Amino acid sequence: STISTTDYRSTYHFSPKEKWMNDPNGMVFFKGEYHLFYQYHPYGNTWGPMHWGHAVTKDLFTWEELSVALAPDEHGMIFSGSAVVDWKNTSGFFDEEPGLVAIFTHHLEVPNDQPVQRQSIAYSKDNGRTWDKYKGNPVLQHESFVDFRDPKVFWHEQTKEWVMIIACGQTVCLYRSPNLKEWTLGSEFGAGIGSHDGVWECPDLFPLAVDGNNEHIKWVMLVSIGADPAFKEGSRTQYFTGEFDGSTFVPDEASHTVRWLDHGRDNYAGVSWSDIPAEDGRRLFMGWMSNWMYANQTPTEGYRGVMTIARELSLETINGKITLVQRPARELELARRPILSLQNVTVKEARTHLTNLQLESYEVDAKWISEQSVHFKLRSGANHQTVVGIDASRQEVYVDRERSGIVDFHEHFGGRHAASIQSENGDHHLRIYVDSSSVEVFANGGQAVITDLIYPDAEAKRITVDAGDDNVVFSSLNIYKLTPVKVV
Ligand code: FRU
Repeated sequence: STISTTDYRSTYHFSPKEKWMNDPNGMVFFKGEYHLFYQYHPYGNTWGPMHWGHAVTKDLFTWEELSVALAPDEHGMIFSGSAVVDWKNTSGFFDEEPGLVAIFTHHLEVPNDQPVQRQSIAYSKDNGRTWDKYKGNPVLQHESFVDFRDPKVFWHEQTKEWVMIIACGQTVCLYRSPNLKEWTLGSEFGAGIGSHDGVWECPDLFPLAVDGNNEHIKWVMLVSIGADPAFKEGSRTQYFTGEFDGSTFVPDEASHTVRWLDHGRDNYAGVSWSDIPAEDGRRLFMGWMSNWMYANQTPTEGYRGVMTIARELSLETINGKITLVQRPARELELARRPILSLQNVTVKEARTHLTNLQLESYEVDAKWISEQSVHFKLRSGANHQTVVGIDASRQEVYVDRERSGIVDFHEHFGGRHAASIQSENGDHHLRIYVDSSSVEVFANGGQAVITDLIYPDAEAKRITVDAGDDNVVFSSLNIYKLTPVKVV
């Protein structure tokens, strides 16, 4: 489309003021701030020599962008990694007060040879505003892996040691350390299990209660899979559930069933926040809302890259299977400004109420009980529409972005993405987050999620609804605007 007047700037998702961003890094909660570092190229709108950009939020939807935290040095570029609060000063970097330690990959380009990836650390005594790299860097290298990156570190209380999960080729390695400086290999996981459609990247590992029962804990491992031209899905994230003793991960299923975190195309390299206070107890997650298949070609100007909304992860037994469930972080409910609030209306009546609405970024929260298909057309205009719905006969939730706007920058950008869902007696609940260039769909309590970028014309702002039967009743249909992100 040549008439587009939008720069697709999200109103309530984080994107950098300018230039390129990919993976979220170093997400850690400290002294009232949620930190988000991210893969950042401050001199270009496509991927380039990686730095760590930095932003903070206190409420998970209002972001403040800060200055670049880590820049390339003699050991190379700063690739993905994590950050922790060193509460007990195990590293010896701190005096009185505990501070932050970042653990990241140094990626060194070597002329006429393979690049070298080694792990390094840096520390901050001023809440992440400035960082000192450790003089003894790098702290961890490996003889045999070319791809050896994206360390995610956490404190393992039972063994009183730090654990690092790190991608090594097409597996993950688990290391232990007393001080974040010396690391010992515990085990390797991943051969012959899960998806190997691409290089393994950005792993995470954390415990979650099953069905809210703190006596029943399972460990969840996230592993992102790089894009391989052989697969039109591009890059995606899979997960495993299992047991972990501080050294070895044992999966619940030794089979090859692949379980995807998200069924859209644009939720990659996501990991969880470290050091969320125990009294909060949540496992908060955020991903990069793009796909390596076309990330460098998306039609934004002046910047490129946006994160998903913050999400809460939990484990729930669905249809006899322990399933990773995602819900929007509850803070987003505080940002709601009601636009339309209907109870017990038919699809036909709802359609009338929607006629005059013109919205660019908002949330739809819809509940109904029916065995009929129901779908919404969002960001709909003369030329475009993104269809989000439940297909009753296929028992799936889907997003169809084939005609969502600009799709022709990559042959696999358009298309329809679906996920099977369980429903009792036709009970359905969709929460749909729409922003200037994205839709995030949480179906039936977050048991299936679809995250997709879209690039509609600025004027494509209508919302319509259709169903297999116009008499299907919404027990509730709410539309909210969300308080815009204040970029400071
Ligand atoms: C994942 C990734 C990481 C790497 C980073 C480089 O998207 O490829 O494995 O550290 O991006 O920017």
